[in-house]
Amino acid sequence: MKKHTLHSIQALKEKQEPIAVLTAYDSSFSQLLSENGIDVLLIGDSLGMVMQGHQSTVPVTMKDMVYHTQCVAKSNQSSWIIADMSYMSYATEKQTLNNASKLMQAGANMVKLEGGEWLVPSIKLLKERGIPVCAHLGLTPQSVDALGGYKVQARDKRSAEKLLIDSLAVESAGADILVLECVPKDVAGNISKRLKIPTIGIGAGNQTDGQVLVLQDMLGLNTNFKPKFVKNFFENENVNNLSQAIQAYVSEVKGREFPNDEQSFK
Ligand code: KIV
Repeated sequence: MKKHTLHSIQALKEKQEPIAVLTAYDSSFSQLLSENGIDVLLIGDSLGMVMQGHQSTVPVTMKDMVYHTQCVAKSNQSSWIIADMSYMSYATEKQTLNNASKLMQAGANMVKLEGGEWLVPSIKLLKERGIPVCAHLGLTPQSVDALGGYKVQARDKRSAEKLLIDSLAVESAGADILVLECVPKDVAGNISKRLKIPTIGIGAGNQTDGQVLVLQDMLGLNTNFKPKFVKNFFENENVNNLSQAIQAYVSEVKGREFPNDEQSFK
């Protein structure tokens, strides 16, 4: 299988083929996901909850992100790799460059940062130095306390307009991909049409250019918390092993069957 590049990911948007993304934090799953057709592996700072048992992504450090990025990069076969910059690791220009370069040296192909218009200088800084950037908008978990909890964003006209303005700003600054988390389906669909870069949704309906889920959630391993946008791909009579669960996810994402309207916000 040929390894994805920035161009091949962008080409999926142009061909209107949805992009299948899952989080990965270790070497074995990296290999399994990549071998079973996942286009993009995201080393998300969700590892704070999934791997470390924290209540949020805030305690995750750059050291953690570098370690898990190295683990994933070693066994990846063909997927594009995005790694999250951890909480407050891009607060200043110097930190942004130092920390993004650590992730690239650990094996990431692209770094992800949470934020809108205020991120424009950081995105430009990284892009000028040849580092591909994924921006993350909507529910931005590193700001969970400021947002008042894990809530659906952009539900009213004013905040939907602000989300569009932020999305256009990060695209103009040079972001190559945009993650939209927990926003109404129509809002995410409209932004996806307005942008030239691919959008990847989580809890954002099936009109984005791709979908991402936390791996452990889509395997049904998280029994404490099941938001409505999560589907357990193991819960199917035709699925008997991990590879089949991942293939079912890829197939439903590519066919725009997942997420359906019950798994989306209106
Ligand atoms: O950290 C993460 O896993 C993420 C996804 C949920 C988009 O940012």
